[in-house]
Amino acid sequence: MNSTVETTGFIEKLRESIGQDTFVKMTLSKISNQADGLKNIYVRLINLKGLDYFSLTMRYTTRDEVKNYPIEEGIALITLWLGDRVLNANLMTTKADYTLLFNKKRKARMLVSKATFSSIPEKAHDRKKKRTINAQGNIYLRELGISTSEGKILKEGQRKFKQINKYIEILSGLVQDNFSKEELNILDVGSGKGYLTFAFYDYLKNTLQKNPHIMGIELRQKLVDFTNQLAEKCGFEHLRFIAKDINDFEIKDLDILIALHACDTATDIAIAKGMQSKAKLIVVAPCCHKQIRKEMDCQSELAAILKHGILEERQAELITDGIRALIMEAQGYKTKVFEFISTEHTAKNLMIVGAFTGKRDAEAMAKVRTIKKAFGIGKHYLEKLIGGE
Ligand SMILES: C[S@@+](CC[C@H](N)C(=O)[O-])C[C@H]1O[C@@H](n2cnc3c(N)ncnc32)[C@H](O)[C@@H]1O
Repeated sequence: MNSTVETTGFIEKLRESIGQDTFVKMTLSKISNQADGLKNIYVRLINLKGLDYFSLTMRYTTRDEVKNYPIEEGIALITLWLGDRVLNANLMTTKADYTLLFNKKRKARMLVSKATFSSIPEKAHDRKKKRTINAQGNIYLRELGISTSEGKILKEGQRKFKQINKYIEILSGLVQDNFSKEELNILDVGSGKGYLTFAFYDYLKNTLQKNPHIMGIELRQKLVDFTNQLAEKCGFEHLRFIAKDINDFEIKDLDILIALHACDTATDIAIAKGMQSKAKLIVVAPCCHKQIRKEMDCQSELAAILKHGILEERQAELITDGIRALIMEAQGYKTKVFEFISTEHTAKNLMIVGAFTGKRDAEAMAKVRTIKKAFGIGKHYLEKLIGGE
């Protein structure tokens, strides 16, 4: 078959999936000219004021750009790109998955395989609206000292409120991109007073209308008693807290692992447990980075810089989190490391996101060894946990 016929066939499947409401998502990859840094295009269906649109997330090397197009305009654009800028298109529908591949000579071939998804995702109406925690009539925000009974955010609660809102905003996109199923098993490591745990449960249940089962694990019994009582008061049936060391906790069937500022190596334990249970998403914002700082014994020219305490501290943070991401990649997680909120709300603003793909980076551990050698580090705690050197 020639390329035009294959491309037309693929576009027909796309059009059919929209008409029959079986469209799940589409990814356009193998971008032929990456001079502008465009790597991939992710296509979702959204509903704005009652009309369906294609929402295209254009992923560039260092940023995402989202553009919405009316369906016909989107189809026209995608048709233009296929075989030109885009050499690989993967359409997922609840009927089947379709892949359109172009070879070097731009000859196309369409592959059809069994559908990965059995249901379509909820169409986001207006993601911005869905991303905020509603403070009106919110029991947990009031009981946690974030808001007044009237839902006004207190001055002393504002930083925490911003932090959890941002965290939820990121989780919202990740959940909608990675899960079409309703029931989600989630673990929050070092849940403390449960700010994030309550907000995430509320958001999943009442905004995304999912069926979350969230467990918060926390060392301090007093906090666990408080949060369990509060969960009951809120009527959050499947939100529970347990007083335990994460080290001693056995995890099964985990979809998402979160940890907001779990102290020092508790973040490593959280990541290791998440990886062992093959959680689809691991989303952590690390806290203090003491372990690597104590281990570092740099003998190279860099020692002249690292003699300054603050620079040594920042370097230790970089290495700790950089190696965490590399180890996750070695274990089949695609990672991203970024600042999730501005430093005015918290200095501990780094976030590591890992999405399980099963594709292990075979070179990642060699890179870890090189970095450790350069800084005179014996071991990274996460490495030890996964049975490495
Ligand atoms: C900085 S607080 C953060 C609490 C909460 N996530 C938040 O952001 O508000 C870290 C929490 O982790 C808990 N923690 C530390 N190590 C832990 C471990 N090994 N197992 C379970 N919880 C732990 C501490 O007791 C503390 O409440």
